[in-house]
Amino acid sequence: MKGRFITIEGGEGAGKSSNLDFVRRYLEQRGVELVTTREPGGTPLGEAIRAILLDRRNREMADDTELLLMFAARAQHLAERILPALEAGKWVLCDRFTDATYAYQGGGRGIPGERIAVLEQWVQKGLQPDLTLLLDIPVEQGLARAGARSAPDRFESERIAFFERVRAAYLEQARRFPERYRVIDASRPLAQVQRSLAEVLEAWLAER
Ligand SMILES: Nc1ncnc2c1ncn2[C@@H]1O[C@H](COP(=O)(O)OP(=O)(O)OP(=O)(O)O)[C@@H](O)[C@H]1O
Ligand SMILES: [Mg+2]
Repeated sequence: MKGRFITIEGGEGAGKSSNLDFVRRYLEQRGVELVTTREPGGTPLGEAIRAILLDRRNREMADDTELLLMFAARAQHLAERILPALEAGKWVLCDRFTDATYAYQGGGRGIPGERIAVLEQWVQKGLQPDLTLLLDIPVEQGLARAGARSAPDRFESERIAFFERVRAAYLEQARRFPERYRVIDASRPLAQVQRSLAEVLEAWLAER
């Protein structure tokens, strides 16, 4: 496996999608051949699963169904896009990955981490991101940003306490995996967030 795998994580409205482009341009300017993608989704089948996951009409979805759909979409994403790209020497930049499952289905829904780890091992067979950029933002501030954008989906309709657990679970993952995690204060204006991202990327590239 020659390519590198970079993920962008964070709660609602943290600025993942806004900063994905910045990170992509930063890496491309340094000659990296890059595939950008997102989860849940990233393939036609995965995007169909995403639509089911986000549909507010699926109110009755059981927590385990949600968890399994996330990993079903991820299995397809790995097989169809992520692994072929990495094997071809390309880098992959993904808006959310398994850390989001630990945060939302683990922290948010309360599914034990050991159960998520079983599926993680099954589907990823040891593959982990080389670098995870966690955009951390106070819950209310992130929701205010996301809320200004569009009608809330099935996740965005959750209560504040849910998102506080999501944030805490992300920060816990960052403590567990300090070698691949970089936490960025995303509460600041975009230009400052991007300055931090550039610093983090520069230092990380220099370590390699
Ligand atoms: N640092 C920032 N300061 C102010 N506004 C921002 C900042 N970053 C992003 N935004 C705005 O906040 C909104 C949410 O950003 P974005 O969609 O990138 O977040 P996200 O993390 O991808 O959210 P989601 O989890 O819902 O996908 C957008 O309208 C974006 O323009
Ligand atoms: Mg987004």
